Amino acid sequence: MASTVVNPGLEGIVVGETVLSNVEGDVGRLTYRGYDIHDLAEHATYEEVVHLLLFGRLPTYQELLDLKARLVARRSLPSGVVAMLHAVPRDAWPMDVLRTGVSAISHFLPHRPDGSHDTNIDAAIDLVAKFPTLVAVWDRLRRGLEPIAPDSTLDHAANFLWMRSGERPIPAAEAALDTYFILLADHSYNASTFSARVTASTGEDIYGAVAAAVATLAGDLHGGAPSKVMTMLEEIGLPEKAEPYVRALLGRGEKIMGMGHREYKIRDPRAAHLERMAKNLTEKSHTKWYLIARALEDASNAVLAEVKPGKPIYANVEFYTAPTLASLGIPSDEFTCTFACGRIAGWSAHVLEQVAHNRLIRPQATYVGPAVHPYEPIAARNARGNGAASGGAGSYN
Ligand code: COA
Repeated sequence: MASTVVNPGLEGIVVGETVLSNVEGDVGRLTYRGYDIHDLAEHATYEEVVHLLLFGRLPTYQELLDLKARLVARRSLPSGVVAMLHAVPRDAWPMDVLRTGVSAISHFLPHRPDGSHDTNIDAAIDLVAKFPTLVAVWDRLRRGLEPIAPDSTLDHAANFLWMRSGERPIPAAEAALDTYFILLADHSYNASTFSARVTASTGEDIYGAVAAAVATLAGDLHGGAPSKVMTMLEEIGLPEKAEPYVRALLGRGEKIMGMGHREYKIRDPRAAHLERMAKNLTEKSHTKWYLIARALEDASNAVLAEVKPGKPIYANVEFYTAPTLASLGIPSDEFTCTFACGRIAGWSAHVLEQVAHNRLIRPQATYVGPAVHPYEPIAARNARGNGAASGGAGSYN
């Protein structure tokens, strides 16, 4: 029976269950399998969080060593994928290249994943391990440089920075990126994760589901926001210019990137960690990004309270991502790829969860097109001389 309630953005609609993460938007709390994100950000490593999401619990020492060994063993890209990346035009957008790269990896697998839990776990580890390599290899190639091989002595975050620059990162940089990956690892049924689950629900394999997720993450309203935040910081240039900038932006009816969230009605809990890291890193790198971002958040809060009273629009995870990643030397058009390097753990875990309790995801729509009318032969349509079908809307959509 057709539903009569139309909810275009699925806002407030519960479409499934998950044990992976919980977003409590009213109180600003995010938990992964019951662990508060603040505790994980402070005490865990990304690899521990990967174990938590994929295997259901935090690892023992031995389990962590085993997972790290499996990740290290899967970091390198098949040579065929690197050859394909060599053929991509250097001005291609890094998120597009990442999407292509995920698909390409699946061409070089010895066997297509058969959908069993064990092969999906293996594929998930493969994807978590290879995402940073894909991003780093493309970063080097687009700059006209040769890729740098992964360093098996380095942990996940440090190795990512190493493969980009060929320099061992300072501890503060490694710790910041590791925490960033933890903070971004999962976020319930966000748009990209939902895409992955929809794709997996059709029986498509995990590589296809993750490729769909990468495509969905790319948009400005989701993972594309932080590079736009960076553009704002660059345009503002000085902290004292933040308020007039915000007024002009809102005056043109535009949104402040990195502000607002569908779920959080107060400041995103991840923003506090990112702000701390942005402050710390920009002090170390002697850049001005943190101070401008801080001024922009203050100005946004003040002006939004004035022009959109009563609307809960506060800094989201993307806001301080921009100064944090910029301070790590990551160019703004690679921010979304770096986000994906963290989120791949959550996407994979959601695919595993979807497969384990699968039901094809297939919502309904209320039909609002023309009423039923007879088919008109092409000769008759041609004689009339235009595309407007009798009783039809006459437009392609
Ligand atoms: N700047 C200015 N106004 C904003 C805003 C922002 N960043 N975010 C929301 N609003 C306003 C909208 O203009 C709208 O006002 P109106 O009712 O007067 O028209 C109201 O708040 C509701 O916004 P809406 O876009 O319908 O809410 P949503 O739940 O769909 O929005 C986002 C969630 C994330 C899409 C939205 O806040 C946004 O576009 N933010 C900027 C992009 C961003 O940072 N994305 C990353 C998300 S993690």
